[in-house]
Amino acid sequence: MPLSPGENVGPYRIIGQLGQGGMATVFKAYHPALDRYVAIKVLHPAFKEDLNFLARFQREARIVAKLEHPHIIPVYDFSEHRDMAYLVMRYVEGKTLKAHLTGEPLPPERILEILRPVAEALAYAHEQGVLHRDIKPSNVMLTPEGGIFLTDFGLARMAQSGESTLSQDMMIGTPQYMSPEQAKGVEVDERTDIYSLGVILFEMLTGRVPFSADTPYAVVHDHIYTPLPLPSTIKPDISPALERVLLKALAKEKDDRYQKVTELALAFEDAVVEATSGITPALEEERALEPASVPSTVVEAKAAAPEARPSRKRWLIIGGAAAALLCVCCAGLFLASQAQKARGTPTPEGPTPIARPEIKATPLPGGPTRMSPPGDEDPVSQALRQVQANPNDPKAHLVLGDAYALQGNRVKALEEYERAIELDPEYAEAYIKAGNMLAVQRDWARAAEMYQRAVELQPDHIEANLKAGQALWGDGRIRPAAEYFKRVIELDPDLPLPHAAIGNFLVNTGQLEEGREELETALRLDPALPEAHFGMGFYWKAVGDIEEARREFEFVARSDAKPWLVAEARRELQELK
Ligand SMILES: Nc1ncnc2c1ncn2[C@@H]1O[C@H](COP(=O)(O)OP(=O)(O)OP(=O)(O)O)[C@@H](O)[C@H]1O
Ligand SMILES: [Mg+2]
Repeated sequence: MPLSPGENVGPYRIIGQLGQGGMATVFKAYHPALDRYVAIKVLHPAFKEDLNFLARFQREARIVAKLEHPHIIPVYDFSEHRDMAYLVMRYVEGKTLKAHLTGEPLPPERILEILRPVAEALAYAHEQGVLHRDIKPSNVMLTPEGGIFLTDFGLARMAQSGESTLSQDMMIGTPQYMSPEQAKGVEVDERTDIYSLGVILFEMLTGRVPFSADTPYAVVHDHIYTPLPLPSTIKPDISPALERVLLKALAKEKDDRYQKVTELALAFEDAVVEATSGITPALEEERALEPASVPSTVVEAKAAAPEARPSRKRWLIIGGAAAALLCVCCAGLFLASQAQKARGTPTPEGPTPIARPEIKATPLPGGPTRMSPPGDEDPVSQALRQVQANPNDPKAHLVLGDAYALQGNRVKALEEYERAIELDPEYAEAYIKAGNMLAVQRDWARAAEMYQRAVELQPDHIEANLKAGQALWGDGRIRPAAEYFKRVIELDPDLPLPHAAIGNFLVNTGQLEEGREELETALRLDPALPEAHFGMGFYWKAVGDIEEARREFEFVARSDAKPWLVAEARRELQELK
């Protein structure tokens, strides 16, 4: 790109070239008026051959410039210079994730550190109706201080081929992260970004991208038609839970993928927790208990039931947030606290699985992915053979159910779990799994029944109690739900998250001081627990101390809490304004 140091581009003075990609060259420049460095991205002049390019460029640049997020590199300006369109962005000192990846797998905890901000940024953009369309490691920047930023939102669309075939060819320059629907050239939606993010996760976990044929066209073909290579064939020690997340994120059909970035991030987080602590995962199906899915109207309606009516006015102040919090608290958050506990009590052997047999990983006998050696027949066929060989073995049906669940076939999975229950009515694990399948369909009533049955069979089963509480809550039966949560606390008073959940529940049902006590207990166990701070925000809001409330919600908004919780805290802050 013919721009030399010292040359002026609009009000910016070029310092030097930072890098070059398929569509543009990036320069470091100085903006004297504001006394700051910027990065200027000058698009290849060839784009000008496309007559619609400039209009599209301007339209997209305006949209992208509206994005304001702590993990998105902001676009300051855009214009033209010497017949070249350029974008001006914040200059970020650091290197790209592409430069960071060495072809070796990264530890899952490190991947999670990278995924969190990226997913948060992407979820935010999706909420604004903006797709990235070109998620790949070279568009993620890492700073030496640990900052992580996503860049080049919408750039792919700016450069999208119109009349010009040139830009199309350029687009095909790096198809490793392209979704099948992008490869086919059909309409895309946010699930396209989810797929591409899945490719990055695949690469970080295994050390290589799933498809890397010799020519771009072959890669494009593979994304559309070639089954995903099983991650465990590349990296045999990958945990089955992480592998499941990859398989789902990278499903060819977008309906089979995670539907929201947040869902993918939470599932990944759970899988990492499981992989590093040995705890049974909150099955990704539990993510049906997503915040927005808990209708606050239901909560209000049921809470106004006769026994709960007196002094229940405060139900009316419950946003979806608190309800959601309680639900989600109980899934991944619980596990996070378990993991934290596990981390906090190291033993000479290294990270110990929590010493409670009932919540240790209950590997599906063999586990869907461990069951078959790499390259062998698929898990369902194999499990089917087992069932044929032992039609009355409940465990065989459970395994088959797991294989179906892994495939995303929930109906068949549920059938198999129910069959397992028929064969062994005392099979607590089968009730829990059946409950998971029902919860994902938001059939809270039946899910609750299953979990409650599991609790009857194993009253000290923490996970079963927790899930019973969740499902009851989802079904609007708040009071019995709270009993299950209390039971979880009885079983393990040192888990901070159930205290936070109960604290939120109490505060939001008007039992302010009791709620505060629980929240303070949670904070004693974990002073930085965002969920407890979130509840304290509600407490202060309820007693009219807006300053304190703001402080608490700001804490959550700045924390590395789950993206949805950060979003809820931001919403609360907006309301306090
Ligand atoms: N805001 C920025 N601050 C500092 N350096 C940047 C910034 N944006 C991009 N760079 C550097 O410029 C390089 C080229 O970026 P560019 O986006 O043009 O290409 P790419 O993302 O590597 O590939 P492609 O064109 O295929 O998307 C990046 O790899 C990065 O090193
Ligand atoms: Mg880029």
